[in-house]
Amino acid sequence: MIDNATYLKRSEEYESSARSYSRKFPIAIKKAKGVVIEDVEGKTYIDFLCGAGTLALGHNDDEINSLLIDYIKSDAPLHTLDMITPAKDEFASTLFSCFPEDFRKNAKIQFCAPAGTDAIDAAIKLCRIATGRRMVISFSGGYHGMGQGPLTLMGNLHAKQHINGLSSDVQFFPYPYAYRPAFGVKGDEGVEICINFFERMLKDPESGITLPACVVLEAIQGEGGVIPAPKKFLQAVRRVTEELGIPLILDEVQAGIGRSGDFFAFEESGITPDCIAISKAVGGSLPMAIMAYNKKLDKWDAGTHAGTFRGTTLSMVAGERLMKRVNTKPFLNEVKEKGDAFKKHFEALKSECPIIGDVRGRGMMLGIEIVDPKSKEDICGAKAASGEIASELQRTCFNNGLIMEKGGRNGAVMRCLTALSIPREHLDKGIDILTESIKTVNKKYC
Ligand SMILES: Cc1ncc(COP(=O)(O)O)c(C=O)c1O
Repeated sequence: MIDNATYLKRSEEYESSARSYSRKFPIAIKKAKGVVIEDVEGKTYIDFLCGAGTLALGHNDDEINSLLIDYIKSDAPLHTLDMITPAKDEFASTLFSCFPEDFRKNAKIQFCAPAGTDAIDAAIKLCRIATGRRMVISFSGGYHGMGQGPLTLMGNLHAKQHINGLSSDVQFFPYPYAYRPAFGVKGDEGVEICINFFERMLKDPESGITLPACVVLEAIQGEGGVIPAPKKFLQAVRRVTEELGIPLILDEVQAGIGRSGDFFAFEESGITPDCIAISKAVGGSLPMAIMAYNKKLDKWDAGTHAGTFRGTTLSMVAGERLMKRVNTKPFLNEVKEKGDAFKKHFEALKSECPIIGDVRGRGMMLGIEIVDPKSKEDICGAKAASGEIASELQRTCFNNGLIMEKGGRNGAVMRCLTALSIPREHLDKGIDILTESIKTVNKKYC
């Protein structure tokens, strides 16, 4: 038998220094079913990472796997660039049925190279072409992918600090981060200040900010630390952008396809964006990215956006069935209920374990911000975020059989992005492991 260490040593030799997850979770995975994965040595783990939110129905869903096998056996094409196939037609029709009515009636879609970063790139390109403007507005804590276009919109400085030549046509605004508000004011008043600042700066003829080609926004920031935007903030951004004729792009790459408990996370606020970037779960666990947009923006010519793998029919077959399974009221309600149970449990643990600073999220997009209990409180009563304690917690979870990602400012937020379909018993098992791990680490730091 080849053990984990041997595979890891080989990977260290052939794989890039930019690799990341394989460093935090040093195993070679042999099998995966639902949310349980097994390494080559036979140890099992509960998977709260699930391909960073890609595996909405978990690993190796029986129905999707058998559809894929049937499709392959049928000699239907696996790859067609952007030529039409019955699988593509069916996928598009199901995707359109999942759009909110106001968006659907004017919608068009662009199949993108199969990564979220390309869907964002395509959206920015389209908005620049349609408006004839260059500048793009993004938000602190935003994450839109690692291509050099989307990278310019990233809040986190680590990934872009060594790259010269990134476009400077970006303006950042504060995102309403309730636990650590940008203006030091908590609650509703803090949100109002963010809204006012955004509106004033865009409408003030002397703010120094030129009219942008688009505004790019996550309704729930994922990599930035699982931060849901209040409804009134999303509504205000929509109102101001509409008044000024600025296309609004909602990045639903991570929060979309049911993860928030709504099919798209922006739906809770009732707004209608001009573009939606979609990827991750939309391919039913296979690579896929789509940029959906209002046809009033459809000002580009044939070939203005291309990409060899826009026509991967296996992703369409899998994604079509996944969307049908996810987009039902009972399924989405269960996502909300499971997320609420998670939050309630860890809220209750807060008083016993002061390393828990904040518990937040919507649906199965959940975060626990870890703080240094011995640090001083800031102006809003929050202790210092601790990436160090969070890393120790992540390692403890891993040793106890739970794979869980971190993110957010200073890498201090433990993030649950497990399958939407996770059975209650596996969710409870993951919660138990996380609880015990928090208690162990908490003891050391208190
Ligand atoms: C909100 C958001 N946008 C875009 C991306 C980029 O997607 P990809 O990694 O597939 O390029 C991600 C990835 O995590 C994301 O969370």
